[in-house]
Amino acid sequence: MDASGIPDEILRLKDERHAIILAHNYQRGDVQDIADVVGDSLELARAAAQMDGDVIVFCGVDFMAETAAVLSPEKTVLLPAPDACCPMADMITADQLRLVKSRHPDAAVVCYVNTTAEVKAESDICCTSANAVAVVNSIPENEIIFVPDRNLARYAARFTKKTIIPWEGYCLVHDRYTAAQVSRARHLHPGAVVLVHPECRPEVIDCADHVASTSGILMHVRTLREKEFIIGTEVGILHRLKKESPDKTCYPLSLDAVCVNMKKTGLTMVRNALASLQPRVTVPVETADRARGAIERMLAL
Ligand code: 13P
Ligand code: SF4
Repeated sequence: MDASGIPDEILRLKDERHAIILAHNYQRGDVQDIADVVGDSLELARAAAQMDGDVIVFCGVDFMAETAAVLSPEKTVLLPAPDACCPMADMITADQLRLVKSRHPDAAVVCYVNTTAEVKAESDICCTSANAVAVVNSIPENEIIFVPDRNLARYAARFTKKTIIPWEGYCLVHDRYTAAQVSRARHLHPGAVVLVHPECRPEVIDCADHVASTSGILMHVRTLREKEFIIGTEVGILHRLKKESPDKTCYPLSLDAVCVNMKKTGLTMVRNALASLQPRVTVPVETADRARGAIERMLAL
C-alpha cells in the first residue's frame, strides 16, 4: 500500500479494535491529525482514564503510556515506538527517591508525571506542568520533595510558602533555552508575546510574558488579542498552533527545540501497532496499584 492509504487503514483498524488514539502536542503533524485526542500530559491522562475503548494507542513517550496502563489496567495500551522515552523521567530511580525520603521523613513527595511507574509508586501525588502549583498547594505538608524537574520545582516554589526540595533533573529540550535567546527574539519581533513552558530555566521564565503547559500555550494564542507570539516549547506544537489559530503568527524561540523521542512515532508504526496489538506497555500489578493512588489524587483535584 502507498503511504497515502495509511490514515484510512488506521481508521479502519481503530474501529475494528475499538481503539482510541491519544497524541501529545509534540507529535509529528500527520500523527496528530489521525488522533482522537491531542493534548498536554494532563488532558491525555484524563482521556486515558475516562474514554471508552479496548485499546489505547499512545503516540507520545513511555511514561505517558505507563500512566495510561496504570489508570486503565483492563485496556491494552500500545506504544507504537517502544524506544520513545523521556530522558528526564529516567533521571531519578525509585531507590534514589527512597533515599531522599529517608533524609526528609516529614516531607510529602510530589512527582511530575514525567517519571517511571516505580517512582510514582513512591510518591504521594503526581502533577503535570498544567497543575503543579495547585498540586503543591493542595497537600497539608509544609515540606515537599519535588521530582524530577528542578525547573518545574523552582517554578512551583514561586507560588507557595512551602519548602520545596527539588531533584536536579531537567528536560534536555527546555533547559537549553537562554534569556539571551528571548532578548534576541523580542528584538526581532517587537511587541510579540513570549510564552514559555515551566520546564524552562528560572532566568528564561523571568523574561516571559506567560508560563504555561503546552495546551496552556495553545489557549493563550487562541484567546489573547495580540497577533504575534514567541513560543518557548518544543516545535511540534507549531502544527496545532497553525491549525487552531491561523490568524496568528507564532515564532519558535529556537528551531533546535526538538524532542527526538517525541518524533519517533510515525503513521506506519501506528498502523502496525493496531494490526498486531504490539508493542504493549504493561506495569506490574503491585507497582501499578501503588502508583495509581498518586495519579488519581492529582486527577481528583
Ligand atoms: P505538557 O504537554 O504537559 O505541558 O508537557 C510537556 C512535556 O514535556 C511532556 O513531556
Ligand atoms: Fe521529556 Fe523534555 Fe521530551 Fe518532554 S520534551 S518528553 S520532558 S525530554
